[in-house]
Amino acid sequence: MPVMPQTTILSRPIPSTGEELPVVGLGTWPVFDVGADEDVRRPLREVLRRLFAAGARMVDSSPMYGRAESVAGDLVAALGARSRAFLATKVWITGREAGIAQMQRSASLLRSEVIDLMQIHNLIDWRTHLATLRQLKGEGRIRYIGITHYTDRALSELTHILATEPDIDFVQCGYSLSARIAERLLLPVVAARGVAVIVNQPLGQGALLRRIRGKPLPEWVAEFDCASWAQLLLKYVLAEPAVTCVIPATRNPEHMTDNLAAGFGRLPDAEHRRRIRALWDTL
Ligand SMILES: NC(=O)c1ccc[n+]([C@@H]2O[C@H](COP(=O)([O-])OP(=O)(O)OC[C@H]3O[C@@H](n4cnc5c(N)ncnc54)[C@H](OP(=O)(O)O)[C@@H]3O)[C@@H](O)[C@H]2O)c1
Repeated sequence: MPVMPQTTILSRPIPSTGEELPVVGLGTWPVFDVGADEDVRRPLREVLRRLFAAGARMVDSSPMYGRAESVAGDLVAALGARSRAFLATKVWITGREAGIAQMQRSASLLRSEVIDLMQIHNLIDWRTHLATLRQLKGEGRIRYIGITHYTDRALSELTHILATEPDIDFVQCGYSLSARIAERLLLPVVAARGVAVIVNQPLGQGALLRRIRGKPLPEWVAEFDCASWAQLLLKYVLAEPAVTCVIPATRNPEHMTDNLAAGFGRLPDAEHRRRIRALWDTL
């Protein structure tokens, strides 16, 4: 029987609610930290248009990312896409009152009374902010609570917090073909505890693609509907069942289209993943 091409983007349930989240999203650091110049903003608007047109939703930002929250807020509003977007941002400051003020500012910049996901950025003052986030969630000002980091060093602390603190819906961490420690340290705990996982730096800030530039893509990757190196890197991460969503950043609409394709079709199976790791180690 012929296999029908998959026409909707893959999604995974957020464990705490069952809400489905498309597996490819968008990071805004550093690419959305731009001014008002229309020529600079036009490709970013097109990046977002393609994201939503493909059925994807997640846009991740932070007050740490300069003007990114304000640019994302402007462009999502200009596209009339707020209801389709899943807006994630962060609190990145010390102190309860300062944290509340920063989150209010983020909501205003993102033009959203309700933020879908508020994350504690790099675990800064996390005990203080976790108490505030529980309160904000109770009041309906945020829909989900998350914690984030990006280094391998932080994985143990993230894992410990997830194992001991209830009410955290999301963890965001670094994980890529060249940084695989999360596979054995964090992801098994997350799977057992039922927490959604957002993967940042899935392309190693673009360095992984620079490493393989000009090298031919093996033919066997077509077995899991992969047509580019970026898709290979993203599909490798997405094949991990505990991963909910990847958020590669891009300012280039063609790269957005490339990345979105990782959310369609088959994913690598265990044998494919073994071959990908072996291939990677030879590159
Ligand atoms: N602690 C935290 O919470 C934390 C830490 C780090 C990152 N993050 C989040 O994670 C997001 C992603 O991380 P990241 O931006 O550091 O790294 P990344 O997504 O791994 O890499 C982004 C880089 O890859 C390039 N790229 C993207 N798609 C491409 C494609 N298809 N082909 C060729 N090049 C491509 C982009 O350049 P082009 O613009 O030219 O496409 C950009 O330079 C951030 O934007 C941020 O939202 C969070």
